Amino acid sequence: MILKELYEITANMLAAAGVESSRFDTDCLFEDILGADKPELIIHGDREIPEPAADRLMAAAEKRCMGIPLQYILGKWEFYGRGFFVGEGVLIPRPDTEILVERVIEHFAAQGNDSPEICDLCSGTGCIAVTLKKEIPKAKVHAVELSSEAMPYLVKNIQANGADVKIIKGDVCDGRILENFADPEDIGEFRRIDAIVSNPPYLTDSEMNELSREVSHEPEIALRGGTDGLKFYRVISVLWREILRDGGLMAFEIGYEQGNAVKELLERSGYENVSVFKDLAGNDRVVTGIKSSASPLT
Ligand SMILES: C[S@@+](CC[C@H](N)C(=O)[O-])C[C@H]1O[C@@H](n2cnc3c(N)ncnc32)[C@H](O)[C@@H]1O
Repeated sequence: MILKELYEITANMLAAAGVESSRFDTDCLFEDILGADKPELIIHGDREIPEPAADRLMAAAEKRCMGIPLQYILGKWEFYGRGFFVGEGVLIPRPDTEILVERVIEHFAAQGNDSPEICDLCSGTGCIAVTLKKEIPKAKVHAVELSSEAMPYLVKNIQANGADVKIIKGDVCDGRILENFADPEDIGEFRRIDAIVSNPPYLTDSEMNELSREVSHEPEIALRGGTDGLKFYRVISVLWREILRDGGLMAFEIGYEQGNAVKELLERSGYENVSVFKDLAGNDRVVTGIKSSASPLT
């Protein structure tokens, strides 16, 4: 079969299976599997495709028709201009998360702090931790992740991007994890972290019942944030405040309806200058607060 015929068959197959971005997805599959980009299609559309290559393409298209996310089929995706390995078991990095990363970078640029110590909680692929380390090269970055399925991706992405990020495997909701930041000399260095950054699981129980076909392939542990979706914000803002220095930054990605709730939660938990930032679609997407030295309200 020739290239342009195979393209039309694939695009029509995806559209008929209800894939919204059928042309875009077809372009990505063609580029990845056949090395054929748009100009190649136009200039060499009559090129004969060897059967094994056409079979590989069809097998990938069939997976896409079954609702498997394009990113899992490709095995990699881009975040903040860098490549990250992805697959079943780890959340696909989203463009919305780049807003969170940008806020953190801007915060330290404004402070003139080029060597902050940062903890990225619920790291997944490591897209946040790796990007912060690459964009703030002198930063000391820790990546905390619980899932054994996500862990190989985190390890591989840190290596592939040449980022010196320290991995801590554990539960961000379990206080014992703070022992990793212990201050053996007890000289006040325990409360030294400059920023806690997190894109935790934040979907509510009812949202979990209405996942799109694609998102339902992503790991539940990366999505479910308790009945009201706020479980991780409640725990992290209190527990991890312990190792944040006074004036340190707490920065969360949030669900688009969680802006007011997370803002209030941070204000009650001992943070000031709490701000909500919107994504490109105009939805609340990031909440940040500065740890105040005053005790939280009880
Ligand atoms: C929404 S995903 C975010 C992944 C990545 N940071 C990103 O922005 O693409 C949440 C991540 O939290 C991890 N996670 C869930 N519960 C956790 C827990 N109790 N402790 C540590 N990590 C957890 C999941 O495995 C998942 O990788």
